[in-house]
Amino acid sequence: MTAVGIDAIEIWTGKLKLDLAETFAPEKGEDPEKYTKGLGLHASSFPDAHEDIVTMGANAAHRLMERKGLTPDDVGRIDVATESAFDNSKPVSTYIAGCLESVYDEDFHHANKGERKFACIAGTQSLDDAYNWIKAGRHRGRAALVVATDTALYARGDPGEATQGAGAVAMLITEEPSLVELSTEQGYGSADETDFLKPNQQFPSVDGKRSMQVYLARMREALEDYESVAGASHPDDFAYVPFHTPFPGMVRKAAVLAYRHMIRDTPIEEALADDIGFQPREDDYEDREAYEEAIRDHMDELKSTDAYREWYDATIEPTLDISREVGNWYTGSVHIARAAALRRAADEDLELAGQRLGVGSYGSGAQAEIHAETVADGWREEIDQLNVAEQIEDRYDLSFAEYEKVHDRHNHDKSIELEEFTVPEAEFVFTGRGRMNERTYEYVE
Ligand code: CAA
Repeated sequence: MTAVGIDAIEIWTGKLKLDLAETFAPEKGEDPEKYTKGLGLHASSFPDAHEDIVTMGANAAHRLMERKGLTPDDVGRIDVATESAFDNSKPVSTYIAGCLESVYDEDFHHANKGERKFACIAGTQSLDDAYNWIKAGRHRGRAALVVATDTALYARGDPGEATQGAGAVAMLITEEPSLVELSTEQGYGSADETDFLKPNQQFPSVDGKRSMQVYLARMREALEDYESVAGASHPDDFAYVPFHTPFPGMVRKAAVLAYRHMIRDTPIEEALADDIGFQPREDDYEDREAYEEAIRDHMDELKSTDAYREWYDATIEPTLDISREVGNWYTGSVHIARAAALRRAADEDLELAGQRLGVGSYGSGAQAEIHAETVADGWREEIDQLNVAEQIEDRYDLSFAEYEKVHDRHNHDKSIELEEFTVPEAEFVFTGRGRMNERTYEYVE
């Protein structure tokens, strides 16, 4: 069967930075380590005055097309995943296509365009749509462009304020991909949940603590569902496990849960039993509550074992390198986790081709999805092209007063004038609104 997957990836971070320890924590009267150690975040990215979900997505896509030597005729599908859309009818993909058409001679008139919504998991669902389109043989040899773009802002004072972020990931989906091949096997964990939602409002309604429980419950269901088609997973199956990363602390919780699940009934559980005992079995407890408490206690002990620490440091920690510097990018979050892991492997000169990734996506509302990816032969050349470290370094460092203005600008009820902090160069910029209240853009040389 023909391999289908991600051929190339590009990342565009919002050009502004809010330092959580230096700038945010003192204003909040919080210990900086709540953010750097507790949540695991150092900084958030924000869009400059000329940036939004369209410019960030179009700039990532443009760079991707230029790098791969593509023109619009090579692309048969543009899907945008976002939970920050500003229009209930016209999809963001049409704006992004419009931007790209302004710099190419050809157009995207024969490309299928859409917008995917299911909170943060929509980015992975768009990958799925592209995969299915190619597997169905409807692509006529063309590639699909998937763009995950978000401005993840919370109301001022909401506990989620510390986890904000903004950026876009553009991915090219093709046959015989250079980066990773997607597995046919997938697992889902999906339920009607009220953990995080944006009912026609700019900033989300969030039940933060509950959202973490829902994330873990759906992820466990998805893993069980994945194993029902792919067979039992083992920690050694995957070189890296990129999870949806609203903040690294969330991934720490997901990782120990996944590890416990995977080592159950294996020699690893047996070897650990001398130190921390066997995992609690539900049948040994009177009720679910007692069992869950025993599981929590067991996981606390498991977390400090050498076996777990070694697995976590090798398989999970590298996936957090970008996220801890940029915050939550919603739909793009799991995709920057994958990129971070591959970039770390390249930095450490690891040979990864043929090895597998286990990818755990999540969207509030709520759904988790797990699939595997096989790293392709061209991964190193692709990942060496990423300049995300430079982008992160070059961001403008906001003062708290500047941050307040940037945040206000994103509350669509207000008309805040905001001067640019950075000078745009060779990129698409937001220029204002047209006669039908549409947003307008241009390319700045
Ligand atoms: N030093 C070290 N650690 C500290 C500390 C200090 N001084 N102070 C606190 N901490 C630790 C806490 O112990 C806690 O860690 P544990 O959970 O491991 O115990 C961590 O720092 C965070 O502290 P709090 O729980 O007190 O933080 P909070 O209540 O202010 O906010 C939150 C946490 C509720 C998750 C909040 O950030 C939030 O609402 N975020 C948005 C919702 C979210 O991201 N949910 C995740 C799942 S949903 C999802 O994934 C979809 C999505 O993208 C939104």
